[in-house]
Amino acid sequence: MDKILIIDLGSQTAHLITRRIRDIGVYSEILPYNVPLEKIKAINPKGIILSGGPSSVYDSGSPQLPMEFYKYVSDEKIPVLGICYGHHLIAHQKKGKIESHDFKEYGQSDLNVSIDTGLLEGFNSIETVWMSHGDQIKELPDGFRVLASTSTCPIASFANYQENLFGVQFHPEVGHTPKGNVVLENFVNKYAKAKKEWKLENWADQTIENIRETVGPEKRVILGLSGGVDSSVVAILIHKAIGDRLHSIFVNNGVLRKNEVVEVQETFKEKLNFKNFHYVDAEDLFLKKLNGVDDPEEKRRIIGHTFIEVFESKTIELEKEFPNIKFLAQGTIYPDRVESSATSKTSAKIKSHHNLTLPENMMLKIIEPLKDLYKDEVRKIGSNLGLPIEIINRHPFPGPGLAVRIIGSINKEKLNILRDADEILIEEIRNAGLYESLWQVFCVFLPLKTVGVMGDFRTYENICAIRAVESLDVMTANFAKLDMNLLEKISTRIINEVKGFNRVVYDISNKPPSTIEYE
Ligand code: XMP
Repeated sequence: MDKILIIDLGSQTAHLITRRIRDIGVYSEILPYNVPLEKIKAINPKGIILSGGPSSVYDSGSPQLPMEFYKYVSDEKIPVLGICYGHHLIAHQKKGKIESHDFKEYGQSDLNVSIDTGLLEGFNSIETVWMSHGDQIKELPDGFRVLASTSTCPIASFANYQENLFGVQFHPEVGHTPKGNVVLENFVNKYAKAKKEWKLENWADQTIENIRETVGPEKRVILGLSGGVDSSVVAILIHKAIGDRLHSIFVNNGVLRKNEVVEVQETFKEKLNFKNFHYVDAEDLFLKKLNGVDDPEEKRRIIGHTFIEVFESKTIELEKEFPNIKFLAQGTIYPDRVESSATSKTSAKIKSHHNLTLPENMMLKIIEPLKDLYKDEVRKIGSNLGLPIEIINRHPFPGPGLAVRIIGSINKEKLNILRDADEILIEEIRNAGLYESLWQVFCVFLPLKTVGVMGDFRTYENICAIRAVESLDVMTANFAKLDMNLLEKISTRIINEVKGFNRVVYDISNKPPSTIEYE
């Protein structure tokens, strides 16, 4: 299959570039900039995109590509498109000049297009683009032509048609560049000439067949099933491949949402008829271990480790009855895998995600059927395979669950208060027909007591923060501009119906600089 390779130079949007290319129909993957050239060659890409990044090309230790890289792409006639830092890097390594600018150009800008053929074919003479840079190119190397500029950035796009090298200072991958896709399409179609062979329909049949072959006619597979979309889709794929030789373990870690324990069991045991679905109630164990712990990363660590402990002991118990359990399936998706590789050393680490930790001594072979897919691709597959819509459209829920939505230490009382408020919020958001259009919406428990008055009584209770965000890619998110009347209804219901909150606040921060979750 033809592939486009994204080289990550520390960008927060490298995955987004990859997603855009896959949406065009061409398979795309990411490698960090510092991999040996052999790895790049092994992928045999039809085209290469260099991502943006926070560095300046003159910084010591800034990501650079070896000169053999340029020789390789030139020998193999592989076109290269640099975005933002990637655009600087090509110019810099080809002996152009980069300058630091006094002010940052950040946000939407008007791009003045001087050459609307080639890379920018389809652009009008002025187009809106998204910029986020301090440095910019001052002087292009020989053989390079300027394609476009903005009022403060004279070289906002370049091409060297001879050497098949292209650059854009703006970010074509983000939604704020409305015609960004035109640039990516032009690059993929005209220069990389990549065939559009990435189709999800064929993927599922092929994957089920591969699982059947890998597992063979007798062996069994164990899976940690959380009820989230990823592990649920893995469960369905494997169930289709080997039926009840799949053993799913669903652990109640004490930090799940209201009714989740019942709903997940109903879905798999009753609706989908999974015979070997094992429920483990470990609520007490988790809550005991989390008692008094208020550091977010420590909470994550405890939940991750305890999950492994519980999961392992259930597996050992099952192995006694079913000695043929030889595989461990995981719902790892592409961003999990790439974020935990060297790429994350380039892009700053923000929060640890616990769900990839694996027991070292497990002798089981791993199967990760979704390892090359993005979340929305997983959703499409789940939907094609008949997974109930409530699971497919469910908002992402962090592995450490409500533990990272209660600031500081957690206990059952706080969890129940939060669960009740969250249920009201979700119900109202669903009633307003907004659930599907929001990326995530949830309540957060702020253990900050303030005074209120209810009837004739003074109250002294905690604050409930409401977080509702819109996002396409999780890397950036905007707070949802919810209707004030709706917010009022939610707030009134929470304060009236949930004992433990006497004040509701609405979070109006975007990501970045805030994150979606609070801890
Ligand atoms: P942030 O808070 O970093 O979250 O903007 C981005 C996305 O990741 C989810 N998230 C987690 N998922 N384990 C997970 O499995 C975690 O520790 C974790 N922390 C955040 C979050 O819900 C959002 O969708």
